[in-house]
Amino acid sequence: MDLYERITEAAGFIKSRDPRIPQVGVVLGSGLGIFAESVAEPVILPYVDIPHFKKAGVAGHAGRLVLGRVGPASVAVLQGRIHYYEGHEIGEVVFPLRVLAGLGIRSLLLTNAAGGINREFKSGDLMIIRDHLNLTGLNPLRGVNDERLGPRFPDMSAAYDPAFQEIIAAALVADGRPARRGVYAGLIGPSYETPAEIRMLATLGADAVGMSTVSEAICARHLGLRLAGISCITNLAAGISATPLSHREVTETGERVEADFIRLLNQVVPRMA
Ligand code: HPA
Repeated sequence: MDLYERITEAAGFIKSRDPRIPQVGVVLGSGLGIFAESVAEPVILPYVDIPHFKKAGVAGHAGRLVLGRVGPASVAVLQGRIHYYEGHEIGEVVFPLRVLAGLGIRSLLLTNAAGGINREFKSGDLMIIRDHLNLTGLNPLRGVNDERLGPRFPDMSAAYDPAFQEIIAAALVADGRPARRGVYAGLIGPSYETPAEIRMLATLGADAVGMSTVSEAICARHLGLRLAGISCITNLAAGISATPLSHREVTETGERVEADFIRLLNQVVPRMA
């Protein structure tokens, strides 16, 4: 079965459980899954039930698709993502996004936990992604291109939609938060970076670093989706932080900003429809 057929089969299964056509897709990062609980009229499908979906295996990632509404917008929320470092091929990592596009979403919000490199950032800050550095050495579009999904050579010059960035900035400011923007550097992990690597990333122009998002962003642009990204700065990066890095700190910071994060997404997601 080729990729297109697998997408069609997974989308067909989801449609059989919930015929609503979602407008906006949301991917919830580590420690940020709680937003899915605030989706109205939810239909919840565990990844294990959806044909061709892999299950999310990381603590802080629930592994289910939540369909429903955020305000007037119909949404499809991926509560928990699949990471390359778990051993999956990069095509498996982006497969759920392709299925959401198959269901009909036109815009996508990617969220993640990230380490802060920019010296102005503090733990708990929310950063609008304005661009990324794909430092994974991978590209989800490698291989034969299916023109039904998107073009062979997608443009990435304004990958993170400028209008969406403004919507997020306005929502942050209205909530009394700074509208921080920055470049997200995506590495494959799962080890955190060394202080020397963080100095290198700062030199390259990165403001934050994480282990996801860049492949998903490439796939989203390939699919022609309008894209936005928000990083929760869960810790200061290695060498900037006074303490060793840990997944516990990442999920704890996620929990600390939970209420603000939910408020932000409730503002932003309907405006992305
Ligand atoms: N580095 C990489 N990924 C991360 C970090 C970090 O410091 N924090 C959360 N995800």
